[in-house]
Amino acid sequence: MESKLKPLDIKNLNDNVFSLLKDDWMLLTAGTRELFNTMTASWGAFGMLWNKPIAIGFIRPQRYTFDIANQTEHFTLSFFSHDYRKVLNFCGSHSGREVDKIAQTGITPVFSENSGVHFSEARLVLECKKLYVDELKPENFFATNLIKEFYPQNDFHHFFIGEITNCLSSNIR
Ligand SMILES: Cc1cc2nc3c(=O)[nH]c(=O)nc-3n(C[C@H](O)[C@H](O)[C@H](O)COP(=O)(O)O)c2cc1C
Repeated sequence: MESKLKPLDIKNLNDNVFSLLKDDWMLLTAGTRELFNTMTASWGAFGMLWNKPIAIGFIRPQRYTFDIANQTEHFTLSFFSHDYRKVLNFCGSHSGREVDKIAQTGITPVFSENSGVHFSEARLVLECKKLYVDELKPENFFATNLIKEFYPQNDFHHFFIGEITNCLSSNIR
């Protein structure tokens, strides 16, 4: 089946990135054909750094996706129409350690040579190559109330800054 996703120059992306994260959510997928996992994410950032278009994913260390993202060079961000809300809810409430999310949701992985794994049902995909990884540190918070609010279990997010190497888009919203 021919993919409905076509390459798009990232500068021509018309989506509002705040709506993409806050309203649409995304599947953050790490790994390769041999071993990959996907999880729902709604925290992230997009911008320019080191003269490159970048995306940042924030992943808590207990996620299975975290283990795989640390082992592999690429991750992807897949955005879907709201028809897929059930799929995103499932991938955001089950771990790939316990269930096969692909079998359970029926979404179709696409394996790109050297660019990781995305899903053919997505309406927008950002393929990212890891550039820099670090973790949020409690001693660096100016707003210490955030620690109490978001990290009672000390599970500080690690952030993965990736160069957006490819943007794929369909015309569907
Ligand atoms: C709407 C939504 C947004 C989420 N955003 C994030 C996020 O940005 N970072 C994160 O670590 N977990 C996030 N999660 C939680 C993970 O998706 C969830 O823990 C998932 O089961 C992890 O799967 P895994 O163990 O297979 O990696 C979110 C969940 C939902 C429902």
